[in-house]
Amino acid sequence: MTKRVAILISGGGSNMVALARSMQTDHPARPVLVLSNDPAAGGLAKAQDMDIPTLAIDHKPFGKDRAGFEAALHKALEAAQPDIICLAGFMRILTPDFTARWEGRMLNIHPSLLPKYKGLHTHARALAAGDPEHGCTVHEVTAALDDGPILGQARMKVTPEDTEESLAARLLPLEHRLYPAVLQRFAAGDRTPVML
Ligand code: GRF
Repeated sequence: MTKRVAILISGGGSNMVALARSMQTDHPARPVLVLSNDPAAGGLAKAQDMDIPTLAIDHKPFGKDRAGFEAALHKALEAAQPDIICLAGFMRILTPDFTARWEGRMLNIHPSLLPKYKGLHTHARALAAGDPEHGCTVHEVTAALDDGPILGQARMKVTPEDTEESLAARLLPLEHRLYPAVLQRFAAGDRTPVML
């Protein structure tokens, strides 16, 4: 049976578009919802253009009530009945309560070669460390931030001319190749890591 995929975004949604496009061909999954915590996220219009149902649940009115926001998120997701949730540039930290509910079914893409550089500013940190290579990782989401079993990584060389911006710009196309490749495998029930 075709797997139902919900994609969670906060911004431009270029990874979401790459995932959604990949599912337009012969594929074990299809997108059923694109959900953003920011009603102004550019990715929402892109999803609508691709005829994918969208929803915005603004986290701001919830203030410090993280549980309240996550309850709303959970309710919306349950209504969409996803088999798989893809976090794609979703910039909210999720509590262990939430991640436990979807464990084994939720993926994330992170712009570093995990376990290096969990959290923010990954490109700057790779440069500051003088790393000869940098990359991105798709992993299963567990309670710990940017942790969980690795499902795929894509690597690239860092050059002496690289800046934070050039690393981000060169990495994004790799993210767009890696995430669909991992999703296709994962949706088919195969957790063997994809290495690009
Ligand atoms: C990507 O760089 C991703 O690695 C990071 O946020 C960015 C999302 O971009 N977590 P987009 O919204 O998919 O275009």
